[in-house]
Amino acid sequence: MAWSSGTSVKTLKAGVTVLARHPAGGLADDLSGRLRGLQDRMLAIAPTIDRIACTRYDPTTDLLKTFVNSTRSGEAIADDACTLATSSALQALAQGGGVRVIQDIPATVQGTREHSRWLRRQGYGSSLTVPMQDNSAFIGFIVYDSLQRNAFTATLQRDLELFSNLINITISSVYAAVRSLRASAAVAQDFVRLRDYETGSHLDRVAHDCRLIAKNLAQPLGLRDAFIEQLFLYATLHDIRKIGIPDAILLKEGNLTPEERQVIQTHGPLGLQILEKVIGKHALRDLPDSTLMRNIVDGHHERLDGSGYPLGLRGEAIPLEARIVAVADVFDASTCRRPYRQPQAIEAGLAELEHQAAGGLVDSLVVAALTRQRADVEAIRQRFQDD
Ligand SMILES: [Fe+2]
Ligand SMILES: [Fe+2]
Repeated sequence: MAWSSGTSVKTLKAGVTVLARHPAGGLADDLSGRLRGLQDRMLAIAPTIDRIACTRYDPTTDLLKTFVNSTRSGEAIADDACTLATSSALQALAQGGGVRVIQDIPATVQGTREHSRWLRRQGYGSSLTVPMQDNSAFIGFIVYDSLQRNAFTATLQRDLELFSNLINITISSVYAAVRSLRASAAVAQDFVRLRDYETGSHLDRVAHDCRLIAKNLAQPLGLRDAFIEQLFLYATLHDIRKIGIPDAILLKEGNLTPEERQVIQTHGPLGLQILEKVIGKHALRDLPDSTLMRNIVDGHHERLDGSGYPLGLRGEAIPLEARIVAVADVFDASTCRRPYRQPQAIEAGLAELEHQAAGGLVDSLVVAALTRQRADVEAIRQRFQDD
């Protein structure tokens, strides 16, 4: 499944090999450890339960995907995803609440629909399904399966009701933390747009280019939907640290002095303080959203050969999200109008990126992903034009 994490080795055009680290995958990664701990404890005290799974519902695709799965045998069930529309019983449960108990799966589940066939294939005797809610919206199910028929006695159902509430609260607390972080980030984005060193259109184009690149790399790099969504949301904050840099330096025409370049490269402390306030001190700090936001802000001027700033990181040490924003930012900077430079055509901008990739500065996989989508790159520029 796409939730798993890992690394894969990628060879760049220039012969530089980058370990394409799979980035933090959002809620699933953040929660899975805690939930698996809870589930394992429940398996230990309820001997008739053989599997506990949490599925997450995505309203945009109607997909239910299993994101935490504990089994007594320790075997993970692969490719466990279905759409809510394929089961009217699950739809009713999602809308109406309550629980669904199937005491004899082989005898009761007869349908030919995807979900029924899946249930029979697993070989379980009985199951209990409990919907989860967050902010009054359906967010997924907790599914308990037993190899035995009639395993879900009234007593066990009562115990599992309490346990399900605990899981639901755990998940909701993380959802609430992400909502809070995103609300603060939205305020920070408004600040960035107010500061007139770059146009709002630049930020929109960079965010859309980043999403285009990430979607194109999703399959080969195993990127998750959550990562792509976070990248799109936070790419607009990439230069938040510039907020504190004086206009005289930021908008200067002509060459910067070494001192001025130093100010740009270390970025202003004011922007950093804003970022710290957005990320907060407690629960928000550990969220994958926070990590990704910080990686974008800190890493988008790093270059694969170590020639970037502020830390001079090399290759695999630069998070993928920062490598993607770097390419989108360089590309848009070269193809849009600046006080000190005439814009290049899209072709020339892409050629410039390929040149930089060949020189080992930027990630050639990322550049290739952008280049492959020439028509979409053009459409983004049509949609978000400078005033
Ligand atoms: Fe920047
Ligand atoms: Fe930028």
